[in-house]
Amino acid sequence: MNVLPTFDMMLFGGTGDLVRRKLLPALYRRHVAGQVNAESRVFGIARSALSREQYQEQSRKSCAEFLGQEFDERRWDAFSAQLFYLRIDADVSEDYRPLAAALQGREPLVRVFFYSTASNLFALISAQLAKSELITPNSRVVLEKPLGHDLASADEINQSIAAVFRERQVFRIDHYLGKETVQNLLALRFGNALFEPLWRRGRVRHVQITVAEELGVERRGQFYDQTGALRDMVQNHLLQLLCIMAMEPPASNDPDAVRDEKLKVLRSLRPIRGADVTTKSVRGQYKAGATNGAPVPAYLEEKDIPPNSTTETFVALKAEIDSWRWAGVPFYLRTGKRLQERLTELVVTFEDVPYSVFEAPPPSESANQLVIQLQPEESITLTILAKNPGEGMRLKPVNLNLDLGETFKVKVLDAYERLLMDIINGNLTLFMRRDELDAAWRWIDPIREGWLEFEDRPKLYTAGSWGPAASSSLLGRDGFAWHDEQ
Ligand code: BG6
Repeated sequence: MNVLPTFDMMLFGGTGDLVRRKLLPALYRRHVAGQVNAESRVFGIARSALSREQYQEQSRKSCAEFLGQEFDERRWDAFSAQLFYLRIDADVSEDYRPLAAALQGREPLVRVFFYSTASNLFALISAQLAKSELITPNSRVVLEKPLGHDLASADEINQSIAAVFRERQVFRIDHYLGKETVQNLLALRFGNALFEPLWRRGRVRHVQITVAEELGVERRGQFYDQTGALRDMVQNHLLQLLCIMAMEPPASNDPDAVRDEKLKVLRSLRPIRGADVTTKSVRGQYKAGATNGAPVPAYLEEKDIPPNSTTETFVALKAEIDSWRWAGVPFYLRTGKRLQERLTELVVTFEDVPYSVFEAPPPSESANQLVIQLQPEESITLTILAKNPGEGMRLKPVNLNLDLGETFKVKVLDAYERLLMDIINGNLTLFMRRDELDAAWRWIDPIREGWLEFEDRPKLYTAGSWGPAASSSLLGRDGFAWHDEQ
């Protein structure tokens, strides 16, 4: 792999969860891989009064925890020689002076301002950086999700960013786009002639996208309760997966060519508004249950959750795309916390044969399916019917299975590792453009408004199950079932 250009990376929210769990471990790994040259620097930035040594020690502990056996003290020492800490209170201009001093004389180098803070600070930090004249042509800004809480707030943030950065400098992150299998989906769709003729109405009966988590809200109760599954997961990760599944072949691999096609999908989504929410959406919240045999509390009993909260921890939706390719093909989306297992998968169910010449065919739901699993394992499985050995002509579904880990036998990069490298290299393909984000919120907002008007409480489901019963009925009404129920 190529050595990255020399960079200075400023991690705002430097003592937060994302930096500790993902960003520092990702940078450390790239350092170990020899991609970070000795002149590059990483600055943790936060409000706490910490010395550089204290920050290095804190970071060492978290990297050791999250990297496990991979962590090596000697290599850490080399990495941490490039790790610094600055105490900055976002709205205090003088606090930016030490940063300005640190960056002085390094103008042509890549500067990355990574905002891993609540999005209501983005405008403030940007304005302060501009005031201190720290934004150079070679600067990039990285915005973590969720960007705002609805279209209006996202628009306001984007405007404040646009006042000081050009769109080509703005990297709106959705870490699902950095996952290896998501890129494999692009390879599958646009690197093979085989699937393209089948990837459409008339051939595909329905598509399912499931992002199921075993975890609850962990230590993020306060954030989560104001956000909910629709805004935490559907507005970004699930819609991005849907875009990659449904988009037309882009004109090239160029960032805007790809993003133009994703935007078209988002704009073709049929709105779910008003009473539609009662037939096309299911909102759930977990009650006490068990994960892997161990009892877990209800959402309402979690830390920092108000006892009467109506925040949803589960969503299932029937999305419809009004386009020539997809008219009439439902895309069922589902995500939730405290579900039965951690599983992210995309399932394409193909149409049945028009007429069967064989005796007793198996249930058509399982005849031809393409299952793309992102988590916990990365695999692509195609189900076809084969003859059951023995007398007669009985058919049975069998799997053609590609285990990506087994096949390539190389360590897959964590999503953040790949995305951080793309940011430093200035490659925008896997990041969301402003108009994409707007289109996503434009589809999401009416669903929330519909819930407020027509469904005052989420349906309860037992922790450790697959969500409320209504989630099965959402597909059942159309004569289908979720993959795990087939
Ligand atoms: C984040 C959400 O964006 O994605 C979390 O805020 C969620 O609530 C996480 O747990 C899931 O990511 P992954 O990569 O573990 O599937």
